Amino acid sequence: MERKKYYITTPIYYPSGNWHIGHCYTTVICDALARFHKMLGEDVFFLTGTDEHGQKVEKEAKSRGITPLQFIDPLVAQLKEMWNLLDVGYDRFIRTTDEDHVKCVQKIYEKLYESGDIYKSEYSGWYCTPCESMWTEAQLKDGKCPDCGRAVNLQKEESYFFRLSKYAPRILKLYEDNPEFLQPKSRVNEMVNNFLKPGLQDLCVSRTTVKWGVQLPFDPNHYAYVWIDALSNYISALGYLSGDDALFRKYWEADLHMVGKEIVRFHAIIWPAILMALGLPVPKQIYGHGWLLIGGEKLSKSKQDAVKCELTDPYELVKRYGTDAVRYFLLREIPFGSDGEYTNEKLLNRINADLANDFGNLVSRTAAMIGQYFGGELPAPAARDGLDCELIAVAEGAFEKVRAAMEKLNAPDALAEIFALVSRANKYIDETTPWLLAKDETKRERLGTVLYNLAECVRIAAILLKPFLTKAPALILKSFGCDEGAGFDALAFGGLKAGAKIEKLPPVFPRIDVKKELAEVDAFVRAMKREKPQEAKAEEPKKMEITIDDFAKVELKVGEVIACERVEKSDKLLHETVKIGEEVRSVVSGIAKYYTPEEMVGKKVVVVTNLKPVKLRGVLSEGMILCAEDENGNLSLVSPEKPLASGGAVR
Ligand code: MSP
Repeated sequence: MERKKYYITTPIYYPSGNWHIGHCYTTVICDALARFHKMLGEDVFFLTGTDEHGQKVEKEAKSRGITPLQFIDPLVAQLKEMWNLLDVGYDRFIRTTDEDHVKCVQKIYEKLYESGDIYKSEYSGWYCTPCESMWTEAQLKDGKCPDCGRAVNLQKEESYFFRLSKYAPRILKLYEDNPEFLQPKSRVNEMVNNFLKPGLQDLCVSRTTVKWGVQLPFDPNHYAYVWIDALSNYISALGYLSGDDALFRKYWEADLHMVGKEIVRFHAIIWPAILMALGLPVPKQIYGHGWLLIGGEKLSKSKQDAVKCELTDPYELVKRYGTDAVRYFLLREIPFGSDGEYTNEKLLNRINADLANDFGNLVSRTAAMIGQYFGGELPAPAARDGLDCELIAVAEGAFEKVRAAMEKLNAPDALAEIFALVSRANKYIDETTPWLLAKDETKRERLGTVLYNLAECVRIAAILLKPFLTKAPALILKSFGCDEGAGFDALAFGGLKAGAKIEKLPPVFPRIDVKKELAEVDAFVRAMKREKPQEAKAEEPKKMEITIDDFAKVELKVGEVIACERVEKSDKLLHETVKIGEEVRSVVSGIAKYYTPEEMVGKKVVVVTNLKPVKLRGVLSEGMILCAEDENGNLSLVSPEKPLASGGAVR
């Protein structure tokens, strides 16, 4: 019988090099899911990789005077090392610079160009370089990138467009007909309300200014938009449109694209539209998980350094606490689908409470008691009593509960089920008091039964933990005399053979002195920070200086606002009529959140009068009103302090 296939993907990572524990989240979850499905006997293909093209890399490499690949290669090696440390067992690591991927992207563009879904036009919009994403005026948040809050820049160029708008009704229908397609449900509302309902615009899918990318075969001046390039990895990795597309035929459509919530819109809108245009089936599911936060903000290297002294470096964390502990924390701590705060204290408490106390103790106490009372030889079980039956029912029922949670991709719940068995077994020790049974020769058979049942619980918990923890379960199984490779088919209670040698294990998860460790970590992070600013300073570009002649190029004049209204369909823009001496000008400014039109009328303002006129939301703007803004987001118009006639020059 043909095995069920399971194709699971992580996003492909930007080669930033600033890897932190937040980056590990998506991929560790996928790894646990892939391992779980493999253990179910399915034919799994697990894909991850790197997203290497685009402006950011081009710029970084240029500033260092090296080629993009010279810049990227060591970072890719670092990322692979990180996955290695975390035991991430992918089936392919794709790089968007891989030759087969590049060829596939070119063929995809060609196909869409031939079918008319890609056409030539002119692009004008706001571009966020760090996110490599484009925004319309209306999508900006206070004039900044709505995803990361950083400054955006206006870009205009001849471009190719993808007919995204044409697919909006089909995407809406896809969500309606397949509630499982996009999860959790809240992400559907986000997509519908923020993007689909306001209306999709056709998407600019080529650039001429960024040359570090996939060249379009039908117009070599143009390079593929990085998101189309990146999303295509999910099919290029399987050989789509190549001479050998056996993997594609076998594994596509994807069973799951697991992604962070900030990139859901690319996966749940652009990607299905591209697939529809290519005439391909869409993935079965896209899951947009939450973020690891520090101080309420998305964990990112730059922000985190400014906020708190938390250790977030995955290499250092694995070095200190081991692969299993880091994986366990990521898989257990954050309620699935939501954001979760990251602190070293939480990590250490999790390790101590669950791994050292609950599981570690169960394993070591069971092995120690078998050693002490039976010379390390597993006793045979005799008749079961009510307590035994209760424990066995929990052990035998655990797998179905774990499976149900994993079907919902919910690793925290799955682990909670396994630890419910661990807790039940620990309680069973307290209830049966083996140390008292050992004192009474007539209770020897009962003692044997109790220890056998405990050893079975250890074995079953270890097998169930295998998709999540990659080191301890095999060690434990081995020391309990079972096959390290035991899978879900070995879960029936009673699998252990009486007489098996049970070896005493060194503590699998040593208890950590939290106070001491936190102090050490704090000192470590502070020391790292002290080193870093110096590095950063050396690399920091000098602030640009201008001469008085440069400044004189800006013409600033005092104006008086004589009329003002809101710009239609915009909650940010005001349209002012400004009298500057004898002249009257139309000016649009993004200050509607700070001033009402009524407040503006009569105000004396400073206007940049020699800016090239532009149209914003269809309204002509012939200048810019100067404002000041502080770090807390307070905004104030810049006005002459004494009454001055309009038209006066500002120097
Ligand atoms: N290159 C794009 C994805 C293209 S997929 C066709 C990208 N890369 S990324 O390196 O920025 O992010 C990779 C993954 O790390 C994403 O799923 C992202 O959500 C995840 N995380 C990065 N920081 C995170 C947290 N602080 N918390 C949880 N996951 C986060 O996006």
